[in-house]
Amino acid sequence: MAKKKLTINDLYRMKKENRKITWLTSYDFPTAQFAEAAGLDMLLVGDSLGMCVYGYQGTVPVTMDQCIVHCDAVRRGAPNTFVIGDMPFLSYQTCNEKAVENAGRFLKEANVDAIKLEGGVRVAPRIKAIVEAGILVVGHVGLTPQSSGVLGGHKAQGRTADSAKLVVEDALAVQEAGAQMILVEAVPPEVTRFIHKILKIPVLSIGAGPHCDGQLLIVSDMIGQFQAFTAKFVKKYCNVAEIIIKAMSEYCEEVRAGSFPGKENCYNMIEGEETKFLETMAKSTK
Ligand code: KIV
Repeated sequence: MAKKKLTINDLYRMKKENRKITWLTSYDFPTAQFAEAAGLDMLLVGDSLGMCVYGYQGTVPVTMDQCIVHCDAVRRGAPNTFVIGDMPFLSYQTCNEKAVENAGRFLKEANVDAIKLEGGVRVAPRIKAIVEAGILVVGHVGLTPQSSGVLGGHKAQGRTADSAKLVVEDALAVQEAGAQMILVEAVPPEVTRFIHKILKIPVLSIGAGPHCDGQLLIVSDMIGQFQAFTAKFVKKYCNVAEIIIKAMSEYCEEVRAGSFPGKENCYNMIEGEETKFLETMAKSTK
């Protein structure tokens, strides 16, 4: 039987019943199929695709068109999973109108269930405008990679009392603006616990500890595909890079040794046709 796709009401029920929400990023059709088969509750088509798929240094170069293409592929691979599109850098920062138009593209062109954008107090008017357009919004506070320059690098946030207070103010602004869920990234668990206690909306964590309603990891990290660096909060559940490199090396060895393709990898001529073929060729080349 096909999996039942969760709605925002189901996700709120999970929070109420203390059932953790499972969330991974996904960027392509096959991985989305695997995620749906594994029973993930939500998928994020993150702008981390800039690093994980395109090999950029960060997320800043990622465009709306790239995000839409990947959301569309993930939607096809996981038709019964709650899919969230991530708004890339400069797709929402400049004005409310642009933010609503670009958020709308995710729904119209890729049929996602919600969008995510980074920032708290700073982007509250954008969140409000997108929500008023009838689009579900997931906020994102703490470490916000699109503004890592301003934050002094990809660094954990909320490690001092002053910094923790700013993260809490951002989280409150996100809820106040009408976002239906919030992601907290790379802050100490004590700060997340406080946010979880005072907010009514589901609070999800990536590198922000266990005291919340669910967890997100970047799929390329947790399956051991992304090689450039591994953040402290990542747990690698397998090492696909090792498996893939081993398979490719074996293939090279077999091709070089002439042991691939074997008989079992070749098509057979229909019985009697080989003799006819050779006779025909012998006549035509006389
Ligand atoms: O793009 C992404 O995958 C994200 C996560 C880092 C939270 O925004």
